[in-house]
Amino acid sequence: MIVLITGGLGFLGSHICVELMDKGYQVIVADNLSNSNIDVLDKINLINGKKPIFYNVDVCKAKDLEQIFTVHKIEGVIHLAGYKAVLESVVNPLKYYNNNITGTLNLLELCKEYGVNRFVFSSSATVYGDQVSPLHENMEVKRGTNPYGETKIMIERILEDYSHSNKEFGVIVLRYFNPIGAHESGLIGEDPKGIPNNLMPYLTRVANGEYPYLNIYGDDYNTIDGTGVRDYVHVVDIAKGHMVAMEKMKNGYDVFNLGTGRGTSVLQLVETFKGVNNVEIPFKIVDRRPGDIAVAYANVDKASTLLSWKAQRTLEDMVRDSWNFQLRNNVNNLL
Ligand code: UD1
Repeated sequence: MIVLITGGLGFLGSHICVELMDKGYQVIVADNLSNSNIDVLDKINLINGKKPIFYNVDVCKAKDLEQIFTVHKIEGVIHLAGYKAVLESVVNPLKYYNNNITGTLNLLELCKEYGVNRFVFSSSATVYGDQVSPLHENMEVKRGTNPYGETKIMIERILEDYSHSNKEFGVIVLRYFNPIGAHESGLIGEDPKGIPNNLMPYLTRVANGEYPYLNIYGDDYNTIDGTGVRDYVHVVDIAKGHMVAMEKMKNGYDVFNLGTGRGTSVLQLVETFKGVNNVEIPFKIVDRRPGDIAVAYANVDKASTLLSWKAQRTLEDMVRDSWNFQLRNNVNNLL
């Protein structure tokens, strides 16, 4: 099967490339390198012994994107390309609406024109807003709490409407919880450009001495130790989730949570990281981050029942692999 992965050199995309190529898929990547690095192609080659076919293309440029569809007989699309920084989306909402929505519409137009009827979309637990966990796919999705989240909700609705209009079309929306960890080789992982917004890449840089301490955003939530609780899930498990979604897809629209079903607090994650990796993580408790919620973890029964997908890797695996990637990255940067 020939699959196009947009944003395929990013954190999730690179791991999905590895899983799909390992299973014999032919993978084409469209990525404009806005938050990823071209070196990832060589890293994938080191892991798999082959590279995906790469196009440096912005999904917002329809004509450029179309070139890929004219050259390759694309059979499925995994759409990850998009901006994802919450605070930036509040400051610059038009940038987010423009990029995330335009890119998706361009892709769908091309899927329609070239008869591509298998589509997996990268959504987020953020669409649930502040509801009581465990979060279930049947819960109502209301307005997004920020423009980034709103683009995810809008795109879910666009996909659902399109699937109603085209009975041949199959789409699976995957709502990720908090992907962390890295490939066990340490060759690919999360390496955001600039100061990381998310907890794990910030934490590994503190462990690495790049930042003096971790800011923990609030210890007065109604949780086990007052810090925020999230459902951390290993990126390799998430990548495998995309493969089964592609394989088991039926016509029509469907939505699945990808998480472990377990909540972990910030302090619990920090303690696990320290214990497993034997490194110090200095931290300071600071004010809550605006827009954060206390608790978010998944109900994962649907993916387990209908996709036979379950996260296999433990929190210990996640913190070990995240740190291993950081250490390997240090070595690579010296070469
Ligand atoms: C965040 C986004 C979410 C998005 C996801 C994408 C916000 C409010 N939410 O999820 O919409 O889908 O990233 O990856 O940005 N924390 C700290 N110190 C830090 C960073 C985070 O204490 O330096 C805490 C947070 O308060 C939270 C937990 O760590 O309790 C996880 O934060 P993060 O990794 O940013 O993920 P989310 O906020 O769950």
